[in-house]
Amino acid sequence: METQLENLRLLFLFLLLGSHLSSVFSWKKEEFRNCIQTPFCKRARHRNPGSCALVAHDVTIVNGELTAKLLPKENHENPDQDHDQDQSKPLILSLSVYQDGIVRLKIDEDPKLDPRKKRFEVPDVILPEFDQKKLWLQKLLTEEDSSSSVVYLSDSYEVVLRHDPFEVYVREKEGKRRVVSINSHGLFDFEQLKVKKEGEEWEERFKGHTDTRPYGPQSISFDVSFYDADFVYGIPEHATSLALKPTRGPGVEESEPYRLFNLDVFEYVHESPFGLYGSIPFMISHGKSRGTSGFFWLNSAEMQIDVLGSGWDAESGISLPSSQSRIDTFWMSEAGIVDTFFFVGPGPKDVVRQYTSVTGRPSMPQLFATAYHQCRWNYRDEEDVENVDSKFDEHDIPYDVLWLDIEHTDGKRYLTWDRVLFPHPEEMQRKLAAKGRHMVTIVDPHIKRDDSYFLHKEASQKGYYVKDATGNDYDGWCWPGSSSYLDVVNPEIRSWWAERFSSKVYVGSTPSLYIWNDMNEPSVFNGPEDMSSGKMIGNAKVTMPRDALHQGGVEHREVHNAYGYYFHMATSDGLVKRGDGNDRPFVLSRAFFAGSQRYGAVWTGDNTADWDHLRVSVPMILTLGLTGLSFTGADVGGFFGNPEPELLVRWYQIGAYYPFFRAHAHHDTKRREPWLFGERRTELIKEAVHMRYMLLPYFYTLFREANTSGIPVARPLWMEFPSEEATFSNDEAFMVGNSLLVQGIYTERAKYASVYLPGKESWYDLKTGAVYKGGVTHKLDVSEESVPAFQKAGTIIPRKDRFRRSSTQMINDPYTLVIALNSSQKAEGELYIDDGKSFSFEKGAYIHRRFVFSNGKLTSHNVASNAPGGAQFLSECVIERIILLGCSAGPKNALIEPENNNVEIEMGPLLLKSKGSSSFITIRKPNIPVASDWTINFL
Ligand code: NOJ
Repeated sequence: METQLENLRLLFLFLLLGSHLSSVFSWKKEEFRNCIQTPFCKRARHRNPGSCALVAHDVTIVNGELTAKLLPKENHENPDQDHDQDQSKPLILSLSVYQDGIVRLKIDEDPKLDPRKKRFEVPDVILPEFDQKKLWLQKLLTEEDSSSSVVYLSDSYEVVLRHDPFEVYVREKEGKRRVVSINSHGLFDFEQLKVKKEGEEWEERFKGHTDTRPYGPQSISFDVSFYDADFVYGIPEHATSLALKPTRGPGVEESEPYRLFNLDVFEYVHESPFGLYGSIPFMISHGKSRGTSGFFWLNSAEMQIDVLGSGWDAESGISLPSSQSRIDTFWMSEAGIVDTFFFVGPGPKDVVRQYTSVTGRPSMPQLFATAYHQCRWNYRDEEDVENVDSKFDEHDIPYDVLWLDIEHTDGKRYLTWDRVLFPHPEEMQRKLAAKGRHMVTIVDPHIKRDDSYFLHKEASQKGYYVKDATGNDYDGWCWPGSSSYLDVVNPEIRSWWAERFSSKVYVGSTPSLYIWNDMNEPSVFNGPEDMSSGKMIGNAKVTMPRDALHQGGVEHREVHNAYGYYFHMATSDGLVKRGDGNDRPFVLSRAFFAGSQRYGAVWTGDNTADWDHLRVSVPMILTLGLTGLSFTGADVGGFFGNPEPELLVRWYQIGAYYPFFRAHAHHDTKRREPWLFGERRTELIKEAVHMRYMLLPYFYTLFREANTSGIPVARPLWMEFPSEEATFSNDEAFMVGNSLLVQGIYTERAKYASVYLPGKESWYDLKTGAVYKGGVTHKLDVSEESVPAFQKAGTIIPRKDRFRRSSTQMINDPYTLVIALNSSQKAEGELYIDDGKSFSFEKGAYIHRRFVFSNGKLTSHNVASNAPGGAQFLSECVIERIILLGCSAGPKNALIEPENNNVEIEMGPLLLKSKGSSSFITIRKPNIPVASDWTINFL
């Protein structure tokens, strides 16, 4: 009897716990507006394949572009008839091709037929110079059966426009295999602006908020297919896996589409298709048989994207090339136009290069910004700042930047100081600067509506705020209370904002101070989005009404996802102006859009101090990298909650390899500076930070690679090993550049890790030099000391092994080269150096070396493409140590040419401080100048 009672009690507890957990989960899931509650998404998802009956008409070449009119079938005969308010007005299609395998396809209404409003085209995202890459189309070919028109794209690819129903695809010239296509399933739909009919209801109400929708429905949707694809990736920002999961189709539990709508999500969950702070409508597909392709839709309205599981269209009767595997996707946007780009790849790096040739390469950060940042909401006052700063020195932990959150301001009036807590801001910054350190302060886009606040006074007088639907300055609630928001979509207003960063306006700032743009989705506490429960949860934050107005009659709904991008751009331009064009800006932004890589760093917002968030930080960062944003990181330690010391240490160990490495915490959390968890933990955190500082020359070289090619610093394994299927969905491990593989540890008290090391060559443990076979999954012992990290055989990594207070104090320090030889006893690597600060590198003032080891010789080659007589960067730095891993011969001597110096070879450890580790062939003090040509013969 007693046992039965006990069983019943347990059952009851279990049910209680179960129901509690499920209610927590569904509560989170339902917190934001879903597709069914979003009319344009609901309408689009109800469409059936084959329902598009648009036919391409009048196909011709004008101004080097292919143009056509799209008309519903029945209108074919009489395209010029008087169109009324239905959907039968012709759409204008234009298709242009560019160098390097890029196609641009635009479809819009004909503005001549309805002058009510020009649909929104996102300005200032596409690089102006991209246009110069346009290939002037001359010839239109017609397929034999006259069903399609064909134009040239490159020697290997062509673009096809099928006429009835219209479809556009890129295919290989030889073999005619398809690469990417649009409207192959006939899901294309374009809601044209129309005149409101009597009795028609355009307003949309959602939980007490009304969206006036003065222009009625104006959404667009279509299908995009990626051929020979095994997986699709991209379209950040979601806290989910790197390889995107199907959201519809047989066997797929009904799920939400991936949503792109910039929102400040309170305590976001770690496995969800809901959109977070930023949006990049760019998707990449990858597959073993062909490679990689990409598709980008330049559109800043709310977007929803379905990844369709195979067989989703079984009933449709549409036949597509069956010899090619395919992933179909479905794209829906609330407004805007079709302005899309197709990228042919064929390699992963090609696609990223092609995409960033359209939206811009990542800017080159200053050296200090690539080092470690210490942040907290909030360092209380000047004394706190001084204490934290000196504790880093006491514990021998380098750091470069100390951050101040919103509490440093005078009542959340940005660009001011709380003069009680921070009476001497300049002196505080100067003290940090004396150690080569910098400060970052937060500047949010909401401006306190206070008539005595200089920013508000000027902005309101000049009419620079976004307006509400009635034409008054939009008034929303944020940190300072009642606030207005600058209309940064307008270049004049951006330029005004940029001027605010001069030391005359930003009183108390010095040249060593840089900026953090937060809340720029924009976050509005009392805005309409998007909680179906209608209640505010904790600090749940929402956004600006969609019918708010920007200058030029642009509705907020049309530009929402790019608002934060323009604010980031204006702030970054402000720092460039402040430095007279001689100081590279550093601006961290939370919101982002396509092109944000040009303006600075981005982080993944308010994560939580738990293992799942540590785990998801890696796919989130990798996805951002694939979509152009290379300088990214997650809050080390987790923003909400108090990490267990073990989690904090692991977070530092992985965070040390994030491109952007910053610790940050919510104000309700306990203090968690690295020295607060006992000696052993301090030591472990210090080692992790030291690892980052040691690798700074390598990281900086990678930032330069990103700056010239768009290839991100942190890469999915398949970017380096594109034909290895085992890597395609691996998002626990990642590559830093092409030489280093990092495997995260995401569980408590982990004893072992399964690590897949791709490729045919071996890998060397970064700390011990132990060698592991490639192409194998290894079960490795894991210690508390570090996460597993490996150098690929065949690579050379430059390091700086002396630890100082900050990266800027290491500038003149000598280098170490770690050469990991492959099975042919060869290796290669690069080193990029410049002044770490100014823009002179753009004029050629930099050093770029390639080191090649082959036939027992190490050679340093110049790979800088500086123009003769142009700007120069000089460095006195030398190479003080060379370590050879995997050397089959046992050289005793090294002869350095041209000096003819003979240096003895010794055995030494891989890391100077490592105790008891094995010894490796080491040349100590070759002291060869890093900037010149030389060869070392190993004898
Ligand atoms: C939200 C940001 O995401 C967080 O990092 C910051 O600390 C708070 N806003 C306060 O400014």
